[in-house]
Amino acid sequence: MNESLKLLQRQSTPAKALVDPAPDDRQLRQILKIALSAPDHGRLHPYRFISIRGDARYRLSEIFGKATQRRDPGVDPAYLQKQKDKPLRSPLIVVVVASPIESPKIPEIEQILSAGAAAHNVLLAANALGFGSIWLTGANAYDDYVRSELGLDDGEKIVGFIYIGTPTLDFPPRPIPEVSTHHTRWD
Ligand SMILES: Cc1cc2nc3c(=O)[nH]c(=O)nc-3n(C[C@H](O)[C@H](O)[C@H](O)COP(=O)(O)O)c2cc1C
Repeated sequence: MNESLKLLQRQSTPAKALVDPAPDDRQLRQILKIALSAPDHGRLHPYRFISIRGDARYRLSEIFGKATQRRDPGVDPAYLQKQKDKPLRSPLIVVVVASPIESPKIPEIEQILSAGAAAHNVLLAANALGFGSIWLTGANAYDDYVRSELGLDDGEKIVGFIYIGTPTLDFPPRPIPEVSTHHTRWD
């Protein structure tokens, strides 16, 4: 096996270990172009991206805070602060939004899978450009207040918040399972 393949080396970086520089606008465009090349039944491209960087992250921080309080009005202040701090950990966040459309031919599950493939392409593209990233969800990803504040329409879903930046640390390679434990041969 060719262990030096870049594809084998992708691994997530904890969001708080991602710092400036983040991809600049030109690099972000390239990342999103690669995301848009994900497999897609019917060429619907049933997803879109919202990029949040710099001071705009404080808007997301406020949204996460409000959403947390709405979910639990008596929330523990330390937990509330933790939620508010989340968007401030990394210099760039790409929100991947699935926008499935009614289609007699392409079931919604396939459209969501396409959005997931696009999200993974964001990780791979960021890695190929030398950046670190991580795909995160959590309660805020499934919160109607967050969805509405981000301008999502009914039916749109947050597939993930992808945090991107330059890794501060070198992490040991992640363990990858033996192929044989996940592969049945019929030949
Ligand atoms: C749809 C999806 C949602 C995820 N949400 C979270 C999350 O909220 N919190 C978390 O710690 N990891 C989450 N992960 C896992 C991380 O993105 C990452 O894959 C994991 O930490 C393993 O690291 P690796 O990518 O280097 O194998 C999620 C992964 C996927 C595919």
